[in-house]
Amino acid sequence: MLSFFFKPWLHFLDQQGQNQKVRLRPNESVLSALLRSGHTIPFSCKAGLCQSCKVQCVQPSKLPAGSQRGLKNAHAQQGFFLACLCFPKRSLDIKLPDANDDIGVAKVVGKEFLNEKVIRLRLSTDIEFNPGQFCNLFKSTNVVRSYSIANTPADDYLEFHIKYIENGKFSAWVANDLRIGDELNIQGAYGNCIYTETNKNKPLLLCGISTGLAPLAGIVKHALETQHTGTMDLVIGARKAKDFYLTGELFSLADKHKNLKLHWLCSEEHPKNIYFNHADLYQYVSEHFADLSEYSVFLCGAPTFVTKLKKQCFLSNASMGAIHSDAFTSAK
Ligand code: FES
Repeated sequence: MLSFFFKPWLHFLDQQGQNQKVRLRPNESVLSALLRSGHTIPFSCKAGLCQSCKVQCVQPSKLPAGSQRGLKNAHAQQGFFLACLCFPKRSLDIKLPDANDDIGVAKVVGKEFLNEKVIRLRLSTDIEFNPGQFCNLFKSTNVVRSYSIANTPADDYLEFHIKYIENGKFSAWVANDLRIGDELNIQGAYGNCIYTETNKNKPLLLCGISTGLAPLAGIVKHALETQHTGTMDLVIGARKAKDFYLTGELFSLADKHKNLKLHWLCSEEHPKNIYFNHADLYQYVSEHFADLSEYSVFLCGAPTFVTKLKKQCFLSNASMGAIHSDAFTSAK
């Protein structure tokens, strides 16, 4: 009976070194409680995907199950958890992140529109990454967005494909205000949707919609750089042909590497270009890749797309361990 009325507390030192405590409301996450009480903490997706809200707990054994989902083992053992996934039933002593924890500085070295809606942003930074991972980019402490890396460490910059949203807090700032030579904070790289040497001889199926193409482009380039010998089928979905981007670069890669095949699919129109098809992506994949038992599969795009296609690929005999995915939300 008592537990019904018990509302746990969060205890912590704020960024000014003052002792603070915040009482959690029923079913409230640590992130929501901190923001509600006016404390500053980076966050973006609020769904356990971007890891920007990582916080440390002084007593890791008290953390509720699921609050460390996706963190590296070393970080989980040190008591780090994701504030947006943590709904405590007991009071917790936590440490807010220092302003500079895990956060580096990147300089803008390139910016251009690839089509009407996608901005290519290139940043110079010393962050280490595997192609297919993502970083958090900061406009300010409270405006943070996660973007996948679209290139490989062979380049001396990181490339991101940013979907432009009119009046979007981050993307409109990138489009209108960010200039070559400007600096911004960056955090990462994170994520397990990566190509490894164990994939080298396997056929790869890579499917993405919208800027889900970004991590797939990085993975394809990395596989080619490391002399991947299996086939690679890159399936790119969009509503209309004008939504495709990076076409020239990918056509040129496919010309040079005969094991790379491109599938451009428009769901809403019959394109005039002979290289593009009118097709429903799910149906196309089911018809052209009916048996995926030998494949490594990479799926990138909105969570609904990734979840649905993952299930479909599993039913087409892909093993769960061979399906790599990156689901992202497009916050404004
Ligand atoms: S805001 Fe918590 S993981 Fe993205």
